[in-house]
Order: sequence, then C-alpha cells, then structure tokens
Amino acid sequence: MSPASESYDHVVLIPYPNQSHINAMLQFAKRLAAHGLAATLTPTRFLLATTRIPSPGPVRLAPISDGHDAGGSAEAASVHAYLDSFERAGSRSLDDLLLEAAGPSPVRLLIFDSFLPWAGDVGRRHGIPTAAFFTQCAAVNLVYFHVKAGMVEVPVREAVELPALPRLELRDLPSFLPEGISIFPEFLDLVLNQFRDLEKVDEVLVNTVYEWEPQQIDWLRSAYPVKTVGPTIPYAYLDNRNPSGANNVFRHLSAEGSPCVAWLDVRPAASVVYVSFGSTAAPSPQQMLEVAFGLADAGKHFLWAVRSSEADMIPPGFAEEHGGSGRGLVVDWSPQLEVLAHDAVGCFVTHCGWNSTLEGMSLGVPMVAVPQWTDQPTVAKYVEDVWGVGVRAKRDEEARLVRREEVVRCVREVMEGSRSDEIRRNAAKWREAAKAAVGDGNGSSGKSTVELINKYCSKAE
Ligand code: UDX
Repeated sequence: MSPASESYDHVVLIPYPNQSHINAMLQFAKRLAAHGLAATLTPTRFLLATTRIPSPGPVRLAPISDGHDAGGSAEAASVHAYLDSFERAGSRSLDDLLLEAAGPSPVRLLIFDSFLPWAGDVGRRHGIPTAAFFTQCAAVNLVYFHVKAGMVEVPVREAVELPALPRLELRDLPSFLPEGISIFPEFLDLVLNQFRDLEKVDEVLVNTVYEWEPQQIDWLRSAYPVKTVGPTIPYAYLDNRNPSGANNVFRHLSAEGSPCVAWLDVRPAASVVYVSFGSTAAPSPQQMLEVAFGLADAGKHFLWAVRSSEADMIPPGFAEEHGGSGRGLVVDWSPQLEVLAHDAVGCFVTHCGWNSTLEGMSLGVPMVAVPQWTDQPTVAKYVEDVWGVGVRAKRDEEARLVRREEVVRCVREVMEGSRSDEIRRNAAKWREAAKAAVGDGNGSSGKSTVELINKYCSKAE
C-alpha cells in the first residue's frame, strides 16, 4: 500500500454481505492492487464478525454499517427490511468513507455489487465514476434481464425459449421463478433490482469468462457497457494447480491450520470426491443423510465441508468412522480454492453456487451438480448440457431430494464412467479458456481489467 503522504489511485469496492459475493469482490480488489492501485473493500461489520473473510492481502478492509451493528442479526430481518436498513445505513457510511478518502487518495472508481444499486447513487453524488459488479454468471443475469423486460410471465408455468439462452425447463430456471415466487417473493425484487438505474453506471463488470458465455455477454452488451473480468480467483491457482508457499500474496484462504491439504497430499491423483454446498444453501436433514450414505457407498475417498450449523444432520459417528479408516475427512470449512487446486481432487459435488462453479471450472475439476435453489438450477443446466463438465444429479421429485443411489451413480459416472473422459476433456478446455482470459493481459478478462484501470486511473502496471 502506498504511504498516505503520496497521492495514489484509489478504488473502493462495496460487496453484498454474503460469502460468495465478498470472495469474488475481494479477489477482484486484489487483482486491482496487483496493478498498483490502492483498493478498499467495505464489508458490513456484521459480515466481518460472522464470516470467514479470506486474507485481504494488500486490500484495505473498511467496515460499513448495514443498520444491524448493534448485534442484531441481519438475517432476522426480511429481505426487504434488511435491504432498506442497509440502504439507509450503508449510504451514510459510504458517504463518510468517500469524503474521508477525498484527501490524498481521491477515489477514481466506485465498484458496487449489483445487488446494491443505491451505492451507485452515492458514487454519482460524489462525482465518482461507478461500475456495477455482477457476481453471478451472465446466463442467469440474462434470464433476469428478460424477466425484467416482461418476456417471461412470473410465476413461470412451462419451459421457456428466451433470446441467447438454451431452452430452459422449469427445473432449469432460478428456483423462485416457477413455484418459489410465493415462498420467496422478495428475492425476485432483489435480483430485478440489479437493473435499477443500470443505464446510469459507467461500467458493468461480470465475474465470468467471455469464452464460457459469449452469446449471453454479446446480448447483454447490446444494452449495457459490459466487461467480463472473471475468474477473479488469484492467477497463481490457474497457472499452477498446486500453488504452495505461504509467500503467495494471492493466497486466497489461509490453508494453515486446516487439515485438508495435508490429508489430500497423501492421496492419489484424482482419487478424492470433494463436497460442499456453499455458505447459504441449506440442504434438508434427509438430503444430508442421503449424501452421507451415497459417499460411503461410492467407495471413493471424500472430503466434505459440512457447516457447523448442519453438523448434526450427518449420521452420528459418520465423521469418526470414515476419518478413522482414512476414507473420508469431514471439516466445517475448507480452504476451497486450495482443495480444488489440489491434484488429489477428482470430483466436486457442488450446489452450483456461482463462485464454487467458477472455481471448479477455472481449476478443471469435473462436477456433480446438486442445485438447491436461486440461480443454482440454471448453473447446473450449464454444467451438464452447455459446458459438459459434469453430470446433474436427478432429484426424486416426490421426496424432493437426491437419493444415495443417485449420488453413487453420478460420482462414478464422473470419475470412471463412459462420459468421464469427455467430461475431463471439457473441464480442461474451459480451464484453459479461463487461464487465457486472465493470463497475460491480452485475454478477454485481462484486457477488460487493464482498460478499466487505464480509463479511470492514471496508470496500470
Ligand atoms: C450464494 C448463493 O447461494 C449462490 O447460489 C449464488 O450464486 C452466489 O451467492 P454461496 O451459497 O455462498 O453463494 O455459494 P458460492 O457462490 O459457491 O460461494 C461460496 C464461497 O465460499 C466460494 O468462494 C467458496 O470457495 C467458499 N467456501 C465454501 C470455502 O472457502 N470453504 C467452504 O468450506 C465452502
């Protein structure tokens, strides 16, 4: 970080308070810092206190208020109530931060999570150029774009054929569009709110790879100044599947203190199934049991990240039994980038949250898609049918879960079945596309990032 006395180019980034969103934006902030900029990320105080924030490296963390700082749980409020409170308190916090920064280090660009359009209003009031940052894939954002444009009647009752998208069956749509609208009406407002005043921003940044979704990006570019900047994961992981060394300034999550990497180090290449359902999706207790028995029956080594809030959902003694035999390791949180970058991992059973999918694709790990809700079904459709990097587990619709036999079938199909060679070839292809995109600055994402910096800052190293 440049000394305060010097004037330097300063970018402020404001993420939506969720593990996925903050990981993506922190990694992008590190990317900007690697180009010589001063970057400040503004997590909410609540998130900072309750979430595993990856090591910020050269990025300054400046906590802001979401109106729940007095220990109240942001989760207790409804989505609307929370967003209203965050807009009021966050706007004040951001105003103060931008005024304070207006000294030696004028803010050249305000990058705000697309879920927080009010932050763009604050930036414009300060005369600062603004960029909306979309942390989900372009295909999902294009579905929402078409819904916003009135191309889709909600709740959706049958398969849809939309411009620049494959045919989407009801099971392939973001989960609240068909039936969930009654359960989660506020979520539709949250995702459509991303387009509020989008025509006023100077840039729209999408955490994806152009070559992964060219038609979708081209379509969105007909409406907005879209730049693809993904994957924002540290280049060291793309370049070398087993990045080691604590001196790696981009080391995303400190793997020190975690048993995962050492446990993987002594297992054969591509022999381990890694399982994680992200930071928010909540599989049912019955689903967790089916996954547990499926992993036991699949006969493969497995590493399973089971959040502490769900630890009582796996069979009593399961972790001890499989830990003792060396077949399986259950942890409450994994250094996921280090795990996916490890040669021992041969299959990723994922809920298809966008960050996890982007990480799995960027590191060339074949996947079993077990989507839970929101954008995950659409991402699962892309994993299996568009990118061909995995199989989507079939749900027992009556029981509303994936059964253990299906977990076994999918894991074996990905790791040794008739499609496994083709899946691995596709995974390698899309990994190379990600590497080329961010690699030497001439790729689609590298060029976008340098163009962004040169346009608003005095230099890009
Ligand atoms: C949420 C929504 O659930 C998802 O559908 C949407 O696409 C983004 O917002 P989340 O559930 O947190 O995302 O999943 P994901 O997008 O996969 O992000 C999880 C992040 O936590 C990833 O960056 C992953 O690397 C990290 N993680 C997860 C760990 O580091 N360790 C773990 O054990 C689990």
